[in-house]
Amino acid sequence: MIVLGIETSCDETCAAVVRDDRAVLANLVRAQHDDHRPYGGVVPEIAARAHVDCLDGLVAAALAEAGVGFAELDGVAATAGPGLIGGVMVGLMTAKAIAAVHAIPLAAVNHLEGHALTVRLTDDIAFPYLLLLVSGGHCQLLIVEGVGRYVRLGTTIDDAVGEAYDKVARLLGLGYPGGPAVERAAADGDAGRFALPRPLRGRPGCDFSFSGLKTAVRHAFEALPPGPLTDRDVADLCASFQAAVGDVLAERTANAAAVFRERCPQNGPRGGALVVAGGVAANQALRARLAQVAAAEGLRLIAPPPELCTDNAAMIAWAGIERLRLGLVDSLDAAPRARWPLDAHAPPATGAGVKA
Ligand code: KG4
Ligand code: ZN
Repeated sequence: MIVLGIETSCDETCAAVVRDDRAVLANLVRAQHDDHRPYGGVVPEIAARAHVDCLDGLVAAALAEAGVGFAELDGVAATAGPGLIGGVMVGLMTAKAIAAVHAIPLAAVNHLEGHALTVRLTDDIAFPYLLLLVSGGHCQLLIVEGVGRYVRLGTTIDDAVGEAYDKVARLLGLGYPGGPAVERAAADGDAGRFALPRPLRGRPGCDFSFSGLKTAVRHAFEALPPGPLTDRDVADLCASFQAAVGDVLAERTANAAAVFRERCPQNGPRGGALVVAGGVAANQALRARLAQVAAAEGLRLIAPPPELCTDNAAMIAWAGIERLRLGLVDSLDAAPRARWPLDAHAPPATGAGVKA
């Protein structure tokens, strides 16, 4: 089975061709960072228009690189949400047109399911596994029981972790997207210089909070002596922030590992996997921290290569393959969705900062 994948839910236009023996035949990403940089963040309308401009060409380029034509495709998969609705519409409509014209099945994929199943493209891993999903819009702990079967153990009650990275980067003038810049700066920093909070530390459960940490970084920044920021200040602030993020992720993930062991005892004591996915999973320092947690909890840490952590269409094509081979074909009426939780039964998060 060969599937074309399309991803347009944020600020990267992506097209990929993946085969069901886990071969990635093409995986193209056209980032729009230059279009959004003057505004310090993603402007939804600019993103949607940029997707319109380049998606057709990118699909053609992906097929050419894979050496396949539309006639050899067994399906087409596109992100149908959650994400910026204008961009999601562009990708999903394009996929529907391809499905209709070439009479191939459509998979309308949940972007989060793309992140969640990426490890089954890169590694031979069976269900169930524990997943820490950390991206620009999400920070969740889930048990992945199967395709379309997710149990959410916890989520952020305010900001997503990638959002916190992006805001810290903006505060320190490191540009957009912020995660990689903060990680680079933190590498030379002293994580002990600034005492930053670890929100929710010691509380039971698997929810996260990052807005207080972000505010504490701002206060530490404002308390610095007047004058231009030195490279040392930036490095130390980034390192202190990243250490706090690592501690928060580690503690909440350890709590989730206990729940996972209880619910899926067949995976213990050393058989189970902790998977980390989403853009923030590209961060090597956080991966190292999570590897410690996994070892302490008797789990294997599995993280996709960084280029498959950040948004891409190979993960969408793969999720499409997983769905189509179970017979989960979507109709051409499939609706784009701005919001689309992986676990529809999860109770809403509670806390001061919960967004509607
Ligand atoms: O998964 P993704 O590409 O898009 C969403 O679905 O949100 O994640 C993007 C987020 C951004 O907030 C970006 O700053 C963050 O992932 N990110 C990182 C790193 N690379 C990307 N955060 C920390 N360290 C990184 N190396
Ligand atoms: Zn993503």
